[in-house]
Amino acid sequence: MSEMSKYAVVTGAASGIGADCRRDLLGRAYTVFGLDRDIEQLKRAEQSTRDVPGKFIPIACDASSSASVKEAFEQIKAATNRLDALVCSAGVFRTGALMDLSEADYDSLFDINTKGCWLTARAAYPLLKVAATQEAPARMVFVASAAALRPKTGGGAYAASKVALTYITRVLAVELANESILVNAVAPATVDTPLVQKLVADAATSGYQVSGVSPLGRVAQPADVTAVIRFLLGDDSRYMTGAILPVDGGSVAAMLSK
Ligand SMILES: NC(=O)c1ccc[n+]([C@@H]2O[C@H](COP(=O)([O-])OP(=O)(O)OC[C@H]3O[C@@H](n4cnc5c(N)ncnc54)[C@H](O)[C@@H]3O)[C@@H](O)[C@H]2O)c1
Repeated sequence: MSEMSKYAVVTGAASGIGADCRRDLLGRAYTVFGLDRDIEQLKRAEQSTRDVPGKFIPIACDASSSASVKEAFEQIKAATNRLDALVCSAGVFRTGALMDLSEADYDSLFDINTKGCWLTARAAYPLLKVAATQEAPARMVFVASAAALRPKTGGGAYAASKVALTYITRVLAVELANESILVNAVAPATVDTPLVQKLVADAATSGYQVSGVSPLGRVAQPADVTAVIRFLLGDDSRYMTGAILPVDGGSVAAMLSK
């Protein structure tokens, strides 16, 4: 099947990794349903996607709310009877030592980073299985984190929410294997996005230290992550499912001794 007719849902499509992935898919002629709770930013994104081969359909959605996800997928179902790919990038970061973290922050981490992916995957599933075959499997890609592979003080609940997501990835991969839906995750270390820029700006008050450069000597750009997501959505990864791929410049491979 040609890429001319592919349909993808990207959550967190208004900013950072999700926005970069949205641009990449639009450049490759996908029809992209971009879900985000930041509707103003989504509208700005829509204006910047006029001259691309693909079609962008922005949809306001709170990925942590089953009612909101249901409503968003009703709009998607009105526009297409099938999907080729789901990319879940919507996520939040909350800092704080575990003994200091508020219950509201703990809940938002798990509601958005973990439950949000499950809710979106559940809503996308009926559309993903429509055209999925062994030769041309449908794809789900979750944006986890290197924190799921190596936690950090001040980010314990965030790491736990992403560990839970990696287990959802693995189990879902096997549960959906016989329906030809491949489920994988990327696990980036620090990526230069608005999320991290805000953390850096707030560092004086929060005390949280962003990890910074990797052993490769720089911080990742969103395009570094998008490239691996593109691989996970493409034919070259057709025999991969249940994988958690670090995109971290070697950050979790070994500790650097100074
Ligand atoms: N930036 C990093 O260093 C880094 C590293 C590892 C993993 N990640 C993960 O990558 C993903 C994207 O992060 P980013 O750095 O691009 O951040 P970002 O803040 O630039 O973008 C996240 C987007 O998700 C949206 N969002 C948040 N909660 C939502 C909800 N409930 N419903 C719908 N949309 C929601 C935001 O409005 C925003 O547009 C997140 O899951 C994050 O945990 C980021």
